[in-house]
Amino acid sequence: MQISKRAREIQESPIRKLAAIASDTKKRGISIYHLNIGQPDIKTPEIFFNNIKNFSEKVLAYGPSDGLESLKNVIVEYFSHYDIHLKNEDIVISTGGSEAVYFTFNVIGDPGDQIIIPEPFYTNYNGYASLSNLEIVPITTLPESGFHLPSMSEIEKKVTSKTRAIMICSPNNPTGTVFSQEEINQLGNLARKHDLFLIADEVYKEFTYDGEKHYSILQLNGLEDRVIVVDSISKRYSACGARIGAVFSKNQEVMKSIMKFAQTRLCPPSLEQIGAIGAYQLPMDYFTGIRTEYQKRRDTLFEILTSNKDILLRKPEGAFYIMAKLPVDDSEHFSRWLLEEFQSDGETVMIAPGAGFYSTPGRGNQEVRIAYVLETRKLERASHILLEALNRYNR
Ligand SMILES: Cc1ncc(COP(=O)(O)O)c(C=O)c1O
Repeated sequence: MQISKRAREIQESPIRKLAAIASDTKKRGISIYHLNIGQPDIKTPEIFFNNIKNFSEKVLAYGPSDGLESLKNVIVEYFSHYDIHLKNEDIVISTGGSEAVYFTFNVIGDPGDQIIIPEPFYTNYNGYASLSNLEIVPITTLPESGFHLPSMSEIEKKVTSKTRAIMICSPNNPTGTVFSQEEINQLGNLARKHDLFLIADEVYKEFTYDGEKHYSILQLNGLEDRVIVVDSISKRYSACGARIGAVFSKNQEVMKSIMKFAQTRLCPPSLEQIGAIGAYQLPMDYFTGIRTEYQKRRDTLFEILTSNKDILLRKPEGAFYIMAKLPVDDSEHFSRWLLEEFQSDGETVMIAPGAGFYSTPGRGNQEVRIAYVLETRKLERASHILLEALNRYNR
């Protein structure tokens, strides 16, 4: 018997791979501030749970593979507030945004085809690309330029006869960068010129700061056939465990193909879709307080970390992550050391080493992703612990 090559080669999540070490740290009685994973501590809206409590059917049956029409209806209504006009047929409900990425990768290319993605990128794209046998061709973005895109001519150099799509994530995980309308327009032009799909993971859509607006690829005119959006309620309604996401596209051939993949897993979770219907009916100002809270957290983290002039970081425009370049040679070693050897009054922090967010070998070795998903008081303490740890590590 032999384990498949695919299984041997698929990347372990850098966000979760230190988990076993962390559980040993906890067994030693040291508490950990988790800045390594995008699990917000914001309360899931009560209406989400109430909707589930009020479920009165006697059988929890399979639902439609593309999700409940009643959920699609509220999604259509929700997006109309952003002047994005979807129809129910443009939506397939998925089991989290994760499955939406997986379905999309399977639909846009065949084994050996390429997808261009700015790096650093959400590390699980590597896993989905392995499962779909797609090759990710990275465009490196730099901390010095706020992880914004290089010139279009640089990106265009990456296009080959095997390229099938360009994919972005905005607001970005792990960098927090929000791509501008001009950047999106230019990518749209490039997709048109080279006959490519344009995919955007927009699961952090609501989380933009300092008045910055998120511009969706769904707002691009004349490119409706090329555009595919990955969506999720995990971050929107702080409902990561619900596993409810969606794929949006106006290209009905794409949607029919996605539906075939959706049928293989029968249906997305039913009760959580019912919960999501409630959340989607919250007024739009529900997000105002949440945005303010995340912005406050971002500012707290940024202010404390910038007091160490050897840390290179830019103030992120959105999402809830900072990619910081630390004065260390090997951020994975530093991240392990934080869990295995360091403590400050019985506490330490857990962060995600940067290399796993890159596909170019050797990139990201000095960087870490820090998620500002803890309330300000805890975040303050965690940031000071990180500074103290850096001082001690470099002594
Ligand atoms: C950019 C991005 N896309 C997709 C996902 C997956 O989200 P879901 O929980 O909906 O599967 C995440 C989760 O962290 C993410 O950060």
